[in-house]
Amino acid sequence: MSVLVVGSVNADLTVRAARIPGPGETVLGNEARTSPGGKGANGAVAAALAGATVSMVGGVGEDAFQDVALSGLKRAGVDLSGLLTLDAPTGLALITVSDAGENAITVASGANARLAPPHLPESFDGFTHLLMQQELPPEITLEAAKRASAAGLMVLLNATPTRDTSPELLRLTGHLLVNEHELAALAGDGEVEISARSLLERGPQAVTVTLGGEGSLTVTAGETYRLPAHPVNAVDTTGAGDTFCGVLTARLSHGDTLKTALHWAGIAAALACTRPGAQDAMPTWAEVERENAHGPQPL
Ligand code: RIB
Ligand code: NA
Repeated sequence: MSVLVVGSVNADLTVRAARIPGPGETVLGNEARTSPGGKGANGAVAAALAGATVSMVGGVGEDAFQDVALSGLKRAGVDLSGLLTLDAPTGLALITVSDAGENAITVASGANARLAPPHLPESFDGFTHLLMQQELPPEITLEAAKRASAAGLMVLLNATPTRDTSPELLRLTGHLLVNEHELAALAGDGEVEISARSLLERGPQAVTVTLGGEGSLTVTAGETYRLPAHPVNAVDTTGAGDTFCGVLTARLSHGDTLKTALHWAGIAAALACTRPGAQDAMPTWAEVERENAHGPQPL
């Protein structure tokens, strides 16, 4: 019933601007905002808010950004006994959010890039699910997947950002989560369901493709679930995918069916788009339930 997250911890430095600058361009925004982020920490916080018992393995530096990077994890009650303080700067994400609510992110990995297999906990006992992304060096991600699957955990991999996902990691993954770009990087261009199904042959028992305003598509050997997006007024989509993955993992660890867990994940991810920031924008479970009771709202 307990979730382990092995992933990145960042401080996010966000500026809102009319639009995202192109190469060589300067755009003016107003004040910058610092907030806790990192795809790993975001997933951990989302899972904790959805009621799971969560432990996080990650790394930060001994510097001014450490406090903000850890603030959300601490607030959400995530167990940080597996967190390391390393001789490198805390991860920092430079984020521009446009008036349309879209973002562009550059990650200065810092301490995240120093994590290696020896930093993993000795035992994976007591955990049922492992959630990972691709912001840590591939060696630790692969080793965690190996040890988790040997210990009988279900491995959920959000293959973001795009980088070489090894065939071995895919084979150890129980549930793969990607957006459309990440899907194309893994399976080539093609119709979404056909591409997602092709990935089932490479290991995962389930593949979910998050489709932004179009909701999500999940395939398993026997089933296809198409969940519509929960309509909201999106102001900042940063961390929405991480929220989806964290809540999905939490609900699966709670014993929900895949379809029910996907339903809750979709609502929480939509609500996370209605406020600025990543962890700062994540809904409480009470808010998720309230939104569910209201049903789909007109735009
Ligand atoms: O997915 C959003 C996250 O990506 C941000 O919080 C940022 O830290 C980067 O890791
Ligand atoms: Na947000």
